[in-house]
Amino acid sequence: MSTANKPSVPQQVFDQREFRNALGTFTTGVTIITACRPDGTLVGVTANSFNSVSLDPPLVLWSLAKSSNSLPAFEQAEHWAVHILSHDQDQLATHFSKRGHDKFAGLTIERGLGDVPLLAGCTTRMQCKTAYRYDGGDHIIMVGEVMNFEHSDMPPLVYQRGNYAIATRKELADEAEALIKATASSNGSDENSLSYLLGTAYFQMYGKLRAFGAEHGLNDTEFFVLNALAARQGRSLEELNRLFVYAGHSPLLHVLDDMSARGLLQIAVDQGDHHARGLFYLTPLGQELAQQIADAGRQSEAEMLANLGTVDAIAMRTLLRRFINLPGYDKLDE
Ligand SMILES: Cc1cc2nc3c(=O)[nH]c(=O)nc-3n(C[C@H](O)[C@H](O)[C@H](O)COP(=O)(O)O)c2cc1C
Repeated sequence: MSTANKPSVPQQVFDQREFRNALGTFTTGVTIITACRPDGTLVGVTANSFNSVSLDPPLVLWSLAKSSNSLPAFEQAEHWAVHILSHDQDQLATHFSKRGHDKFAGLTIERGLGDVPLLAGCTTRMQCKTAYRYDGGDHIIMVGEVMNFEHSDMPPLVYQRGNYAIATRKELADEAEALIKATASSNGSDENSLSYLLGTAYFQMYGKLRAFGAEHGLNDTEFFVLNALAARQGRSLEELNRLFVYAGHSPLLHVLDDMSARGLLQIAVDQGDHHARGLFYLTPLGQELAQQIADAGRQSEAEMLANLGTVDAIAMRTLLRRFINLPGYDKLDE
C-alpha cells in the first residue's frame, strides 16, 4: 500500500457534523461495491465516495472506512465490482449500508471476475482489478482498473444532503422558463404562476376525458357525478353537493334525477341511518361507463407520462403529492 504525504494540520477547528453537512452538499450517485472473500463468503457496501480517475488506463476509486467490517475482505480482494444504482434501488442502497446481517440473502446474483457477486437492475456495472490502495485518514482509498463494464439508459439514483433523490434535467427547466417569460411579456398574463400551471395542466389532462364523456352523452356535471360515485359508491345528496361546490361548480339540481332516469344511477335508502337518507349508487350501466372512462384516463395518462420520461414522471408525482399535503389547506374529504 502506498501512503500519501501526511496532510497539514487544518487551520479551522471544525465540528464533524458540520463537516459532514458541508460534504453532503456535493451531490453524488450511489454505488454498491461487492467482492468475494477467499473462503467464498460475499461482501458488499453502499458507497457514494466512488469517482472516476483516469480514462487511459481506465481507473476508478472509492474509499472505505477503516471501521467497516468489510475492510479485511477489500484489503485482500484482487477484484471488486462497482454497481451504480438506478433511481428505484434506494432500498437496496439502505440494505447494503446496514451491518451485521447477510446482505446477499434472497438476492439473485451473477458471478464476475474473481467470483465477485454481480447485482441486477443497476444503471451501470464495472468489474475492477485492484490497482492501488492508499491510506486516507480514517478511510482506505481503493483504486481499481476497470476490466469490463456495461451500462444502460436507466436513470441513476442520486444522493444529496443525506437524502436519496432523482435528477431531472436542468436545461429543460431553463427552456420552459424562457418560453414562459416570452409569453408573459407578449400578453401580460403570468404564465409562471402555480395557479396558471396547475390549472392548465388540469384542463389539459381532463379535456381529453371530458371529450370522451361527451361522446357518451355526459355533460361536465354528469361526468363529475359519475367519477365521484365510481371513486366511492353510496354518497348522499349533501355529500355530492359538498364535493361539487369544493370543485368550484354550482350545486347539483336535477342532474341526479336525469341520470337516474337514464339508468346510470340508483338511489337506495340507508335503513341503518338514523335519518334514513337516500344514498346514490351507480347501476351496472353506470359502472360500465365509469370503467370505460377510467380505462381511457389510464391510457391518456400513460401516453403523457411516456412523453415526460421515467424520472420526470416520478418528480411530478412527488412534487404534486408534497404540494397537496402542504399544511394549512382544506383537504378534499373523499
Ligand atoms: C448513501 C451512502 C453512502 C455511503 N458511502 C460510503 C463510503 O463511500 N464509504 C464507506 O466506507 N461507507 C459508506 N457508507 C456506509 C457503508 O455503506 C456502511 O457503513 C457499510 O455498509 C457497513 O457495512 P460493513 O460494516 O458490513 O462493511 C455509505 C452509506 C450510505 C447510506
